[in-house]
Amino acid sequence: MYVAMLMEAQGSPISNWGTKEWTEYSTESFAWRISQFMHGEQGALLATAKIVETVPWIDAKYYAATQVVDEARHVEVFARYLQEKIPSEYPINHHLQDLLDDIISDSRWDITYLGMQIMVEGLALAAFGSMHRLTEEPLLKTLLRYIMSDEARHVAFGVVSLQEYYQELTTSEILERQEFAHDAAERMQGRFLQQEVWDRLGVDVREMSKIFLQQDPSENIFQQMLFSKIVPNCKKLGLLDAGDGYLRKAFAGMGVIQYEDFVSTDEEYGSLDEVAKDRALD
Ligand SMILES: [Fe+2]
Ligand SMILES: [Fe+2]
Repeated sequence: MYVAMLMEAQGSPISNWGTKEWTEYSTESFAWRISQFMHGEQGALLATAKIVETVPWIDAKYYAATQVVDEARHVEVFARYLQEKIPSEYPINHHLQDLLDDIISDSRWDITYLGMQIMVEGLALAAFGSMHRLTEEPLLKTLLRYIMSDEARHVAFGVVSLQEYYQELTTSEILERQEFAHDAAERMQGRFLQQEVWDRLGVDVREMSKIFLQQDPSENIFQQMLFSKIVPNCKKLGLLDAGDGYLRKAFAGMGVIQYEDFVSTDEEYGSLDEVAKDRALD
């Protein structure tokens, strides 16, 4: 867990934490994560509504329209969970806000697609999966399972839609997409610090940021795992090695390139779908 690393770092403001502080941190961190899930889903709702307008193929518009309905349901479920089950909420993290603003305001349909379906949803799928494995709260476990089944389908559709389109782009157009993917990945990595949680706990955010940035990302397994969907999907789109391999080098620099051949979203989607069907028959 990265917090333990931050605690052990020299001069850490949390080096003297005891059970009380850790319990408080766990509660706040949980509220923060569920809040960011809800904000991310709101972004997905807006982005997919935009995709309905901008994607050039009618079949893709039909699909995106069904995704709008899925995302509205996800916003609703996380918002209700926050209101009814969690004592505190958090505003949107500024790294996530900046990324969502860029994704939604870009006039190129494929950038909205790449940003939302591949990057944000890929990370969300990994984050939901990790919370699903760790939580023992039955309601949260069940609702995450249903949402993951939807998200896996959204990510898979994003890959299928972009794969062909990216084969037709020029090297310089592909480089723009590679840079966008790298920038999005870095901003998502910036979220991991959970600045708003430290602020609320009265811990010096600047001190914690400094220590966080000194950590070697390749030693943080949890943080790396969150890229286990994004890196293989960028590979499927041909973005890792196109041109001079810009994105492969960038992901290697972030310590996440080892996920390039991680289990495919298609297989995972298949197994999630089976679970959702089983539940529906209960
Ligand atoms: Fe969603
Ligand atoms: Fe989604």
